[in-house]
Amino acid sequence: MARTDKDVDLVLAVAPQPVTFWLELGSYEGGSAIVTAKRVAAQKLETSVIAVDTFLGDARVLWERDPEERRKLLRPDASIALFDRFRTNVHRAGLQSCVLPVPATSVVALKLAISLARRKVAPPGGPANAGEPWAHA
Ligand SMILES: C[S@@+](CC[C@H](N)C(=O)[O-])C[C@H]1O[C@@H](n2cnc3c(N)ncnc32)[C@H](O)[C@@H]1O
Repeated sequence: MARTDKDVDLVLAVAPQPVTFWLELGSYEGGSAIVTAKRVAAQKLETSVIAVDTFLGDARVLWERDPEERRKLLRPDASIALFDRFRTNVHRAGLQSCVLPVPATSVVALKLAISLARRKVAPPGGPANAGEPWAHA
């Protein structure tokens, strides 16, 4: 979870280069993914921000917020509008081509990333011509 520009810059600087994708687990409403994508754009990198979340919320997200906020997040049929909020925030920031939502659990997403890495397949959205030995999905 990247809260500030400085956090993102630090990770981008120390990660193996080129940084083709950034995997975020628990993206919630998209705040950190947006911070990250803005830094990626500012540095003119071709890095996809893969935003993993069940988009179902959790006990803290739902039950520790005030009732008014909770009412906004829960639809009348009790389903949760988290993915809509995430998408709206990313679109408002104009970052939909960089931030790619993956509705999954963190464990599933990590298994997918490991499996793709073992096959040397870059995740979708990675740069097509980064010069590294990846096939592209
Ligand atoms: C407290 S929020 C994360 C805050 C967010 N990173 C930010 O900076 O605003 C927790 C998020 O984790 C998600 N979540 C909970 N359990 C999860 C799991 N097993 N796999 C993926 N996402 C999960 C919830 O849906 C929720 O959006």
